[in-house]
Amino acid sequence: MNTRTLPVTLAITGASGAPYAVRLLECLNAAQVPVRLVISSTGWRLLEEELDIRSEAQLRERTGDWSRLTLYADDDRGATPASGSAPSRGMVVCPCSMGTLASIAQGTTRSLIERAADVVLKERRTLVLVPRETPYSAIHLENMLRLTRAGAVVLPASPGFYHRPASMEDLIDFVVARILSHIGVDHDIGPVWDSGGLTQSR
Ligand SMILES: Cc1cc2nc3c(=O)[nH]c(=O)nc-3n(C[C@H](O)[C@H](O)[C@H](O)COP(=O)(O)O)c2cc1C
Repeated sequence: MNTRTLPVTLAITGASGAPYAVRLLECLNAAQVPVRLVISSTGWRLLEEELDIRSEAQLRERTGDWSRLTLYADDDRGATPASGSAPSRGMVVCPCSMGTLASIAQGTTRSLIERAADVVLKERRTLVLVPRETPYSAIHLENMLRLTRAGAVVLPASPGFYHRPASMEDLIDFVVARILSHIGVDHDIGPVWDSGGLTQSR
């Protein structure tokens, strides 16, 4: 199966870093990737606190073409992303709160986001978790190790500085570019390092 045409599930949870989620969604829409979007209630709160996004309409205004996007309620555990029989290229949780990360690590499945992540792991698909917390406790680290051993990619929102970012957008794109690469979406954002040195795509 060519997974590159399949939908990706994007979950936005209540960790700081809503700008990463909005930029990621904008890039997925621009790349014409079908998106199954789920936002936790604290995820909505962070969209408001960090970006003044208070509604679905305002999120839509900031993230381009929604013709391939479906928004699901996080309390709907019977929605499409909850089923392993619905094909998908995988799931990104961005940003991923330590609360959601802990729940996924334990397989509690008490929300659509938790269930969808659980399904992605059991189906051996790509699960990218983008945590944002500092410092980490032993519990956080153990949960991240457990998830990594279960097949997830823990991709912290920790942009580099070797490409000399000139703006907040450069820092955001550094992280978003890594996420897109992990789910197999072609992009031209973020720095690229090859044997000839460093190039800044954007
Ligand atoms: C303004 C604000 C900022 C927060 N920032 C973080 C954060 O950076 N990382 C984190 O793990 N939790 C953070 N939290 C705590 C989570 O939102 C909280 O644990 C919540 O229960 C997570 O629920 P969710 O995973 O369903 O969104 C923050 C909460 C608020 C209100």
